[in-house]
Amino acid sequence: MIPNISLLQQKKKKGEKITVVTAYDYTTSRICDESGVDILLVGDSAGMVMLGYPSTISVTMEEMMVFCRGVINGSNNTVIIADMPFGSYQFDQSLAFLNAIKFIKLGCHAVKIEGGVEIVPMIRKLTEYGIPVMGHIGLKPQTSLLWEGYKVQGKTADSAIALHEQAIEIEKAGAFSLVIELVTRQVAEHISRSLTIPTIGIGSGGGCDGQVLVFHDLVGSYNKFNPKFVKQYLESFQLLLGAMKNYISDVKNGKFPDEDHSFSISEEELLKFNKYLNTTENIPKLNPK
Ligand code: KIV
Repeated sequence: MIPNISLLQQKKKKGEKITVVTAYDYTTSRICDESGVDILLVGDSAGMVMLGYPSTISVTMEEMMVFCRGVINGSNNTVIIADMPFGSYQFDQSLAFLNAIKFIKLGCHAVKIEGGVEIVPMIRKLTEYGIPVMGHIGLKPQTSLLWEGYKVQGKTADSAIALHEQAIEIEKAGAFSLVIELVTRQVAEHISRSLTIPTIGIGSGGGCDGQVLVFHDLVGSYNKFNPKFVKQYLESFQLLLGAMKNYISDVKNGKFPDEDHSFSISEEELLKFNKYLNTTENIPKLNPK
């Protein structure tokens, strides 16, 4: 079945939770695709977990295209959403459109853009031209860091009202779904109930229509910090580190590679080879093993 974003709306109607995880490469995409997750989000968090940037601010279109290529190649059944990086959509509608089209032509099914009411005209323009758009409100990592840092949103009535109004405007503009990041659970739940489009929460409690986590947080491989809202299902950093240490020790101690992990010449061919070596001076003979 071809992945289809309208299935997400149907899930919301039926009260079925939507599952989303980030992916940035072919191998992870294969694992997630096989797991049955609904959406693979090629998030610009790739800048941090794949490239070691301190934030998502520096991520470029070119980098995002490479990550998307890997994810597309690894997935057959899952909706793939490309995160539009900082500076690729905010100011100029034509630029936003041309950049969004690049992701769609590559094989992504939709794009995600961060922002509140200021981004509504962009969403309207992109959706008018047939590009499915996911909104993103609450904490907006592309710009929050430039202002107040990573802070929980919706803690005051004013903030809750602003978030609610943004969500309504984004739905009206034609977005098919909305990420709500780091918003108090009561406010996120209220917004989710007010909208007909599905909301996808991260750090915003269980009242959203679906959840997203960064893959590397979920499997514990990006362990630089562990936010309260992340549930770690594996401690893969330690597991991978252990595997690396075992490999280094095996190579140093001559345990790897052994016969099981190498190839051998038949005794008959080895005899012939040794015969040849006998005709040549100063070349050591080989043992048949
Ligand atoms: O870039 C990202 O991974 C995201 C999710 C956290 C929603 O935007």
